[in-house]
Amino acid sequence: MEKAPHLPTYAAAHAASLADSSAFWAGQARQLHWFRPPPEPVLSQEETTGFYRWFRGGQLNTAYLCLDYHVAHGRGEQTALIYDSPVTSTVRRYSYRELLDLTARFAGGLRGLGVAQGDRVIIYMPNMPEAVVAMLACARLGAVHSVVFGGFAPHELAVRIDDARPQVIVCASAGMEFDRPIPYKPLVDAAIAQATYQPAHVVVLQREFVTAELQPGRDLDFRELLQADPVEAVPLDATDPLYILYTSGTTGKPKGVVRDHGGHAVALKYSMSAIYGLRPGETIFTGSDIGWAVGHTYIVYGPLLHGCTSVLFEGKPVRTPDAGTFWRLVADHKVSIVSTAPTAIRAIKKEDPNGLLARQYDLSTLRYLFLAGERCDPATYHWAEQVLGVPVVDHWWQTESGWPMAASLVGLAEMPPARAGSAGHPVPGYDVQILDEAGLPVPANTTGLVAVKLPLPPGGLATLWQDDARCQRSYFATFPGYYLAGDGGYRDEEGYVFIMGRIDDVMNVAGHRLSTGQMEELLAAHPAVAECAVLGIADELRGQRPVGLVVLKDGQTIAEDTLERELVQTIRAKIGAVACFRQVLIVKRLPKTRSGKILRKTMRQLADGDAFAVPSTIDDPLILDEIRERLVGRGIGIAFETPPQFLPGGEGL
Ligand code: COA
Ligand code: AMP
Repeated sequence: MEKAPHLPTYAAAHAASLADSSAFWAGQARQLHWFRPPPEPVLSQEETTGFYRWFRGGQLNTAYLCLDYHVAHGRGEQTALIYDSPVTSTVRRYSYRELLDLTARFAGGLRGLGVAQGDRVIIYMPNMPEAVVAMLACARLGAVHSVVFGGFAPHELAVRIDDARPQVIVCASAGMEFDRPIPYKPLVDAAIAQATYQPAHVVVLQREFVTAELQPGRDLDFRELLQADPVEAVPLDATDPLYILYTSGTTGKPKGVVRDHGGHAVALKYSMSAIYGLRPGETIFTGSDIGWAVGHTYIVYGPLLHGCTSVLFEGKPVRTPDAGTFWRLVADHKVSIVSTAPTAIRAIKKEDPNGLLARQYDLSTLRYLFLAGERCDPATYHWAEQVLGVPVVDHWWQTESGWPMAASLVGLAEMPPARAGSAGHPVPGYDVQILDEAGLPVPANTTGLVAVKLPLPPGGLATLWQDDARCQRSYFATFPGYYLAGDGGYRDEEGYVFIMGRIDDVMNVAGHRLSTGQMEELLAAHPAVAECAVLGIADELRGQRPVGLVVLKDGQTIAEDTLERELVQTIRAKIGAVACFRQVLIVKRLPKTRSGKILRKTMRQLADGDAFAVPSTIDDPLILDEIRERLVGRGIGIAFETPPQFLPGGEGL
C-alpha cells in the first residue's frame, strides 16, 4: 500500500515511545473520547505492588467507545459485525446502531439480574454475535467478563468459575463442530456441579439445532434479557478491569490475566492503524475464537474501537465446507486484512496444496495476511505469500500482552519488510531484549530469554486476578525491571526478532496454549502410573502435540492400549478434546538428572529428531536409547521442516 507522506516512520515512533513513554501514550490517548481525560503524566506506579498503571485518573467506557461514539459520529448505519457461519448456513450483518441497541438492552437485562460494576460474568459461547453483545454489555456496566473457550471441558470451566466467582454465566445451548452439534449447556451444568462457588444465574442462548433445558429460578433465556430497557454506559476509571482472560501456566491452575479499560482501549486503537494499517470503515477478518487472546482482541475490541467492520466467523479453515472458506470470506465481505494462526494456513495448504481454491475468489481487496499464535514455519509463510499474492506478516504476542509485541507495522513509514521466520521488529512501546540466564543482554544472533524492559506499554496485563503475588513471581521477579515473556529467541544484527518457542512447561497446539504440567498432574493421578512426562512434540499440522510417557507402578500389568484409552479419556474429560492428547507410551524408566529432575527437553529433542547434547548430569544415558526405541516403535520422531525449538540454559530453566 502507498504510504501517506505524513505517517511517522517506524524508527521515530519506536524511539519516541521509549524516550518518553508517558508523552507518547498521552498523544495516542487523545485519539479516544474520554469522559474525563487522564492527567499527565499518564504513567504511574502502584505503591503496594510497584506495578505500572496507565491513565490513572482518566474516565472512559470501552463499550461506549466501541458503539455509542460511532453512532454519534455518523457510523450508525455502517456494518459493525458480519456474522458468517457456514456451519449453520447463516450470514447476518449488524450495523453499529443495531449492535448498540442489542448491547444496551442486554446490559439492562444483566443489571436486572443484579449484575453491577465489578461483578464478574463468564461467557461460554462459540463465535456468535450474542457473545459479542454479552462482552460489550458487561463492559457497558463495568462488569468484568471472562470469555472461556468453548472447547474446554467442564473441569476447566469449573476451575475458572471458582477463580472468577461470576454472578452470571452466559452460554449458548450448543456449538457446532463441522456438522456435529456440541451441546454446551450440559457442560455448564456439570461445571457448576463441580465448582465450589455457585453463580446466581445462567443465561442461555437457545440455538435452533439444540434446545437446552433450563433450571427454573436459576436459568434464563438470552432473548428474555433483550426485552429489558436499554442502559447507558457507566463512566469507569481507566484502571478498572474490563476483562479476565485465562491462559495456561505451568500448573493445573490457569492464570487469569486482567486487562483494564484505559490501557486496552488506547493500545488497540493505536494498533489498528499502526500495525494493521487499517482505516475506519475497512474490514478485518480474524480467523480465531473469541476465547483466545487473538480473537478476543481483533474480532471484537480492536475493530470496533477503530470504527471498522469485523467478520465473525463460526467455522473452521477447512471442511466448512472446504479449504476455500477463508478466501470466500475475503471476496464476499471485501476484507482488507486477514489475521489467523499458521495452523489454519497449514490445514488449508494440506487440503489445497496448489492454492486452486484461492483462485476462485476475488481477493483484490486483501492487503496483508497476518499470522500469530505460534511460530510460522518458513514453508507455510512462502506458500501463503505465493497463493494470496500479498505480503505475509508474522507477529508475536501473548494473552498477557493483549496485543502484538513484535510485528511489521504496515501502517508506519519506512518499516523494514516482513521476513519469513521472524516476527518482525518490536512494536512501539515494547523494549524487547534478549537476556542470558544472569539477566544480561546478549549480542545479536545469540539466543536467549525474551524479555521486555519495563514499563510495558498500555494494554499489558494489569495483574493476575486476585493474585498480585503470582503475577510478580511469574513475570517480574526473575529479572527485576523486566517482563519475562516465557519465550526463547534472538534478534539478528538488523534488529529482527525471532521467537523460537517456550522456555517453560507450556506448549502450543494449533495456536492453543496448553500446560504440559497440568496434563502430567492428570496422568499421575491414574492408579497404575508411578511417574510420567508429557512432551510437546513437533506436529506437521498443529505445530506441536502432546505425547505422554508413563512409568507403571511396581506390579502393574495394564496393557499399553488400555492405559492409553483411559488416559486419553481423562484428558478429554478434564481439559477437553482441544488438547489433542492421543498417544501414551509405557516406558521402563524416565531419564533424569542425578538430582532427580526429568529431562523433558532432551526427550522432546529426541522425539523431534533434533540434535542435542546429552546433559552431563544425566543419571543413566542408556535410558535415552530405550526411550528412542519406544518412540520409533510408535512411529514418533518425524523430520518436519521447523527448526529446532530453542531452550536456553538447558534443562535448568
Ligand atoms: N467446542 C467444542 N469442541 C471443540 C472446539 C469447540 N469450540 N474446538 C475444538 N474442539 C474439539 C474438536 O471437535 C476436536 O475434537 P475431536 O478430537 O473429538 O475431533 C478437538 O477439539 C481438536 O480440535 P482442533 O484442533 O480444532 O482439530 P480439528 O480437526 O477440528 O481442526 C484445524 C483442525 C487445524 C482446522 C483447527 O485446529 C484450526 O482451525 N486451527 C486454527 C487455530 C486457531 O484458530 N487458533 C487460535 C489461536 S490464534
Ligand atoms: P497465547 O497466550 O495463547 O497467545 O500464546 C502465547 C504464546 O504463543 C507465546 O508465548 C509464544 O510462545 C507463542 N506465539 C505467539 N505468537 C507467536 C509468533 N508470531 N511467533 C512465535 N511464537 C508465537
